[in-house]
Amino acid sequence: MALPPGPTASGLVNTARFSLRPLETLLGWQRRYGNVFTTKFLVFGTGVYVAEPAAIKALFTGDQSDLHAGEANAPLSGVLGERSVLVLDGPEHLRQRKLLLPPFQGAALSGMRPMIQAVAEAEVGRWEVGSELVMRERMRVLTFEVICRAVFGVYEPERIERLRIALLAVVDTQSLFFMPEVLLRGRARYTPGGWLNRRLDAADRLLYEEIGRRREAEDLDQRDDVLSLLLRARDEQGRPMTDVELRDELMTMLMAGHETTSTGLAFAIDLLLHNPTVLDRLRDELDGGDDEYLDAVVSETLRIRPVIDATERTLKAPRTVAGWELPEGIRVYPGIALVHHREDLYPEPGRFRPERFIEEGAQSYTWLPFGGGIRRCIGAGLAQAEMAEVLRAVLSAVELDPVRPEPDPVVLRGITLVPRHGARVRVRSRRPAAELREPAGAAQLN
Ligand code: HEM
Repeated sequence: MALPPGPTASGLVNTARFSLRPLETLLGWQRRYGNVFTTKFLVFGTGVYVAEPAAIKALFTGDQSDLHAGEANAPLSGVLGERSVLVLDGPEHLRQRKLLLPPFQGAALSGMRPMIQAVAEAEVGRWEVGSELVMRERMRVLTFEVICRAVFGVYEPERIERLRIALLAVVDTQSLFFMPEVLLRGRARYTPGGWLNRRLDAADRLLYEEIGRRREAEDLDQRDDVLSLLLRARDEQGRPMTDVELRDELMTMLMAGHETTSTGLAFAIDLLLHNPTVLDRLRDELDGGDDEYLDAVVSETLRIRPVIDATERTLKAPRTVAGWELPEGIRVYPGIALVHHREDLYPEPGRFRPERFIEEGAQSYTWLPFGGGIRRCIGAGLAQAEMAEVLRAVLSAVELDPVRPEPDPVVLRGITLVPRHGARVRVRSRRPAAELREPAGAAQLN
């Protein structure tokens, strides 16, 4: 079966190019080969990128029995666990997904906003005038705290700190996750396996401790954090989640939701500071009490800088995709970044122009930062609410200057696109209105 044409370089060369300049590399291939092309990567092998909305819709919403997404995430199961929604496929995936979705929707989601505001105001309240800050690092601290509170339901500062040390030690070993499994099995000192497994043991002890504490909590029925809702949830057969399932999903939500959101925020601040007209309009709209433009800024950030450049589906049977007969076993990448940069869908695609989300109605399957269908990101609502609330808190409290004259180049870290220098800013001043406000949401933080 002929595959769509694509770059002919070796997997090593393609991987190196993609890692150093992911966006430029992908867009370069798209210019040369069109909206469907084949490429080879180290570890992942041969795959086909697709940047046709109709074909992506078919992949996301069509019959899923021959499409696997969990399989490609299998290397993550050592850390996320075998019961993680990210590594499962078929009915087992659906069971976990149905249990996980409700805590991120409707009233449960809107209930998280005041807490996010309080955490964001407290963080920005600590920024000193004249200091230089790396936004991606500050936002990591912030989004970790939001996950602790919203998902784990942990509010006590010392418990959050213990979790931060233990869990981030695991998150920071990401470079090991895609090593051959055999190297990670061992526990001997000074080996990758020993290093990773000791960190995992420490993190798991704390996670199981939190699950145990919550099970016993007298106010479990009144609590609205995700862990408490999951402890009360039952599947279609009336079964509750086991401790192992709960542990695996807590780790998954942390891994999937913490760095992605902080990176999205770092990109947003970097783009705003390098586009003063957009920044001024956003400030005006926020001062006037209108959130439409704020939401458009979040959408446009995730369009022009999607944190995940593509999702992945492995074909378990031959399938026609965008007019190509593709063989069983091949990986197909619905190309989020590629669709987001199509000139015919987003005129002047390289321009940061949030207005486009207000003036022009979005066509279906053209805005895909959270993937789609039965694998669509469970935390999409939380991530967007968090980005909006944090931007509001930052802009109303401080004036920032970018340290670098140009927006940060985009590079690959693990599987995410990130700003190469982390989006560095200098705090120019505090905004007068902020000084009059309550000190950093203190009432809700303790
Ligand atoms: C800006 C922030 C975020 C981005 C860009 C993002 C992006 C994505 C993408 C592209 C997928 C794969 C979808 C697919 O394969 O079609 C995904 C899946 C997922 N995300 Fe997110 N995500 C973000 C934040 C979060 C948050 C805050 C959470 C939870 C606290 C979360 C939890 C998950 C989970 C559990 C899945 C797996 C869903 C499944 O397989 O059914 N994500 N995310």
